[in-house]
Amino acid sequence: MKSDKNQMQKEKCTRSQIAKRWLVFWTLFIGVGAVAGAAMMFYDPTGKAMGMDAMLPYFQVLPFAEVLFQNYVFSGFALLIVNGLTNLTAAVLLLRKKKSGVVLGGVFGITLMLWICIQFVIFPTNFMSTIYFIFGFCQAITGYMAWVFGRQEAFRVDIADYPNIGTNGKHLVVFFSRMGYVKKQAYEIANRFGADVYEIKATERTQGTLGFWWCGRFAMHRWAMPIAPLAIDWSAYDRVTVCTPVWAFSLAAPVREFCKQAVGKIKAADYVLVHYTKGKYASVAQEMDRLLGITHNSCVNVRCRQGEFSICKQIEK
Ligand SMILES: Cc1cc2nc3c(=O)[nH]c(=O)nc-3n(C[C@H](O)[C@H](O)[C@H](O)COP(=O)(O)O)c2cc1C
Repeated sequence: MKSDKNQMQKEKCTRSQIAKRWLVFWTLFIGVGAVAGAAMMFYDPTGKAMGMDAMLPYFQVLPFAEVLFQNYVFSGFALLIVNGLTNLTAAVLLLRKKKSGVVLGGVFGITLMLWICIQFVIFPTNFMSTIYFIFGFCQAITGYMAWVFGRQEAFRVDIADYPNIGTNGKHLVVFFSRMGYVKKQAYEIANRFGADVYEIKATERTQGTLGFWWCGRFAMHRWAMPIAPLAIDWSAYDRVTVCTPVWAFSLAAPVREFCKQAVGKIKAADYVLVHYTKGKYASVAQEMDRLLGITHNSCVNVRCRQGEFSICKQIEK
């Protein structure tokens, strides 16, 4: 029972949820701090109560200083609006699980950095400005991570959406996929041609953040990654489409192992290369040709950014 509970708790805490919790922390920390700072400025506009009266001369280089910066009233309003109410609004939106809270939380981290940049210009170097710039940076990064992880976790591929898969027994689509992006491409191609699909399964850790770094290690060394034994009746297929992610400008490690095991078994091959950046990655196709002992018929580049695809060239039917 206890382990079931632990398992459920583990499953509940996704990467986006962890990032969102940190973002709530940052927005509350900065927002409450800014509201408190503004309240002190209104309470004592001379800045004496906060020991900030000696800073006032530094403000005199700013435009309209003779009107706006003779005391801390305007600065208090600016702080309240730019860093206070904004961050508190983002915190409320995050707590109410609104997507806009993630975006605003990240954006207000950038706003804080810009605010501190003004301080860098007018004040001498000081600890508080530097540390708050770092806080702003952390908040912006946390917001970006929450947004990216949220999109990754929301990405779904369901084989039920591809009813034509498996209706043409002569064509096989093979793929390896960590996050489901290559899988979606593989299903779409298989659905278009009525092909069978076969997923290459790595026996090393590939999922999650640790999996990413582990894959990176294999990618950097250009190693092949061990895979589950292949169960493919090669004689049944006239054509095989291999769909692979690009890892470190090269062939993904599990597909490298697949190609080694499939050497001499494929009659005609097409490749689909899925990657984050623009590029043709011709060397990836060349490596697959070399490992499979074949010359490919066609190669398609698909750029994928958090589940948004842009296809450079289609495979001909
Ligand atoms: C270890 C690793 C290295 C990567 N290296 C590159 C790269 O060099 N160039 C690129 O455009 N994308 C790179 N990517 C991004 C993937 O190619 C891209 O996100 C792809 O859509 C992943 O598909 P999948 O999640 O279905 O496996 C890398 C991904 C991983 C995990």
